[in-house]
Amino acid sequence: MKLAAFLLSLCVACLLVACGAGDNTDNAPAKPAASLDDQSDRDWRFRSQYKAHMRHLWIDCNRAAGAGRGELEPTWHEIRASATDISARATLMGGYWADIEARCATVVECAEDHDRIGASDELKALGASCDGCHLATWSPAFLHVTLDTMDGWLKNQPAKPGVGEVDTEPPPAIPNREAMKELWFHLQMAEMRVEQWQLEDLKSELEKIRTVAAQRAHLWRTVGDNAGLLLKLSTSRKRDGMKQAYLAMTSGCVGCHAQTAGGERQVMTPMPWE
Ligand code: HEC
Ligand code: HEC
Repeated sequence: MKLAAFLLSLCVACLLVACGAGDNTDNAPAKPAASLDDQSDRDWRFRSQYKAHMRHLWIDCNRAAGAGRGELEPTWHEIRASATDISARATLMGGYWADIEARCATVVECAEDHDRIGASDELKALGASCDGCHLATWSPAFLHVTLDTMDGWLKNQPAKPGVGEVDTEPPPAIPNREAMKELWFHLQMAEMRVEQWQLEDLKSELEKIRTVAAQRAHLWRTVGDNAGLLLKLSTSRKRDGMKQAYLAMTSGCVGCHAQTAGGERQVMTPMPWE
């Protein structure tokens, strides 16, 4: 009886905590912070890996600026480490776009050679680059990894499609998602044009995909190449040119955000060098 009363009061306490959460503007789940190694915590399903990449880029930029600006001797190893991480992430993201850009050209070459199988294969590889990035950047929930899926995998059973809870929180409706939907539409159309072998229409769909891919690849190259320059300068302890490299690098971040990120986010623009 005592136990029941205790449990009841615990429930009431839980309810109160849950109610309190309604006032929380961040919509944080109403529960105590999980221990770092809490094995029952599966909330990581809802974390966008794209945002995680972005947040790390932001942290890296700020560390580099903090370590390099001012009159004092820069903390060189801090700049080297940050630049290395920025370069790796920019290479990963930019690599998918560069691959998509290149494959658009190959599909056109195949089409002009009347190579239907080649064109169709290259288009599939192009689509795999889109999805390669999605597997790397979407939240597991957006990839339909549900608690049921996970339980199945833990029991060595394949996922049953469509079973279990659905992700009720899709990614925010920002310009990037609209751009993605358009890409998807053009990719579908391109697949249809290959099937029906309508070459002029195929080329025009591919050109739309290529333009976007080229822009994104270029932005990531701007970020990555200048991170590489920062790494080089900090390795040889040269202060000259660091500020310019940092400015050029972060112009890639700011440039892409202006086109794709939508409304102002509190955490987004890296610190200025000064
Ligand atoms: C460098 C990474 C990357 C590449 C390359 C990429 N995408 Fe995406 N895509 C994303 C991200 C990030 C989202 C948004 C998901 C999120 O916010 O968690 C997304 C979302 C989407 C969505 C879902 C939109 C919605 O509202 O549900 C579609 C469809 C899509 N992309 C199609 C494509 C197509 C087609 C290509 C290739 C031509 C492509 N993407 C290339 C990263 C990428
Ligand atoms: C090619 C495009 C692109 C480039 C380059 C880019 N970003 Fe982003 N970034 C985005 C998009 C799109 C979002 C919005 C993601 C969302 O809300 O789902 C974003 C969001 C962010 C956010 C907010 C994440 C959050 O928690 O909401 C930060 C921080 C950020 N970017 C930092 C950076 C930094 C720093 C760089 C450069 C070193 C950079 N980004 C380069 C496209 C880009």
